[in-house]
Amino acid sequence: MSEARHPDSMKEVSRRVEQIAQENARLFQELAAGEYRIRRLAKAIWAVQEEERKRIAGELHDGLGQNLTALKIQLDLLVQEAQKVDSGLAPKLSEALGFAERALEEARELSHLLRPRILDDLGLEPALRWMGRTLSERTGIDIQVSCPGLEDRLDPDLETVIFRVVQEALTNAVKHSGIGNKGSLQVEVSRRGAWVHLSVEDQGAGFDSSLVLARGKIPNGSGLANIRDRVEVSGGKLSIRSVPGKGTRIEARLPLESETPPGPVGG
Ligand SMILES: Nc1ncnc2c1ncn2[C@@H]1O[C@H](COP(=O)(O)OP(=O)(O)OP(=O)(O)O)[C@@H](O)[C@H]1O
Ligand SMILES: [Mg+2]
Repeated sequence: MSEARHPDSMKEVSRRVEQIAQENARLFQELAAGEYRIRRLAKAIWAVQEEERKRIAGELHDGLGQNLTALKIQLDLLVQEAQKVDSGLAPKLSEALGFAERALEEARELSHLLRPRILDDLGLEPALRWMGRTLSERTGIDIQVSCPGLEDRLDPDLETVIFRVVQEALTNAVKHSGIGNKGSLQVEVSRRGAWVHLSVEDQGAGFDSSLVLARGKIPNGSGLANIRDRVEVSGGKLSIRSVPGKGTRIEARLPLESETPPGPVGG
């Protein structure tokens, strides 16, 4: 009797297996579509943030910056006049001129850090070289930037992500590696086939990177976790190699083309 039922139960089992496979495929598509929507949303939020930074950088540069320049010119003239009449006001006015000059420098630097115009106008390589040069002038650290195969402009969103990753990695190296002003940092951004690779390396203190990128376990700041998320949302991967006492190397690879939406759910 059990032999007689055998063919039917086999059919039933394979029908169920087929059903489960279809259900799995549907769930997988739904998941992919959900992930795609979340990634698009995260990208949109970052795009708004970058736009806002651009706007504030522009206001700082053109609004506050122009007014401070006008103030500086006026004070300069007043210093010259005061020196002519020997009223004793000249030293005070010179001091005020010094304050105006410093305020102007700070406004310009803040504006460039928020959103360097050079990134929009000239592209990634000039912007990275500018960042290396200014950071080097400020800290005394030797910063080498090399960009093989990066002659052409990339997608603006991709250029922005790469710039922000290098900015965070360089800031971290300056803040945490303890290399001091005699040390050096190496930045490389290269185009290889359909990918862009980047690395930022120091030979400083190093740290236990397993603690930093474990999700939900960020001991100190959030800079590295933020750039990890930003790289992943762009379809890339960030990795950290750090050996205490030997140094740190931050690497990322990002696709040149952004992802295409998954196929329709259902069917
Ligand atoms: N190049 C480095 N050398 C040594 N330690 C590092 C380096 N980069 C990061 N770290 C360690 O990893 C921690 C986490 O870095 P992360 O960028 O996430 O935060 P942060 O720099 O402390 O703060 P934030 O980026 O939010 O301003 C740092 O506090 C530091 O201890
Ligand atoms: Mg940081």
